[in-house]
Amino acid sequence: MADGADVLHETITAVVAQHAMGGDERIGQLVDMLTAPLVRNSARPTSLPVVETWLEPAAALADGPETTVAEALIRHGDSLLWRRAYDTVPPTPEISWMHDGYAYGVLIGPAGGTGGNSTPPFPPPFISDEVFLGFSIQAPDTLYPAHHHLPTEIYGVIGGTADWLNGTGQWTPRPPGSVFIHEPHEIHGMRTGPEPLLAWAAWIDHPAETAYLAD
Ligand SMILES: [Fe+2]
Repeated sequence: MADGADVLHETITAVVAQHAMGGDERIGQLVDMLTAPLVRNSARPTSLPVVETWLEPAAALADGPETTVAEALIRHGDSLLWRRAYDTVPPTPEISWMHDGYAYGVLIGPAGGTGGNSTPPFPPPFISDEVFLGFSIQAPDTLYPAHHHLPTEIYGVIGGTADWLNGTGQWTPRPPGSVFIHEPHEIHGMRTGPEPLLAWAAWIDHPAETAYLAD
């Protein structure tokens, strides 16, 4: 019988498939990875205050195809493995907000965790050594500083319009329904204004790699 993680898997796969039509071929590769057999894990769900506070308000800002994902997250977001980012990096004022203002919920990824910079590395609901897929929540008026990583990353905005930094140093507002790719080690970041941000993200190679804050 399908549980919350199965529903989320089916829903995000359908939405990514919609974006793959006419889009970058790497979005199609992600669909192939999502529809390949995945190892199911009896997840040990965790949650965080930022999820409790901002998941529903951010999901309410969804528009377009991602609306189905927003609705699934409201119902089944508690089946994800929610984690803080950069827990194991020495605390600085720049990243201290992350402990309260940002979380990511893993649906698919390596058994030993992904990102390499948060603990504990519980297995996610679906285990894969090929791909990471998760969801992120960022509170209003917070900055996810410039960072980079080896994996090629595909992002989709579910709810909330934030400013996104790309590798040319430009900050661009990206509304719900936006899908875009960060190339290996391309600098990127996000800053929210009055709205929270709910997004999906996938690493389509090197899913056990680590993200690094930019110098
Ligand atoms: Fe990234």
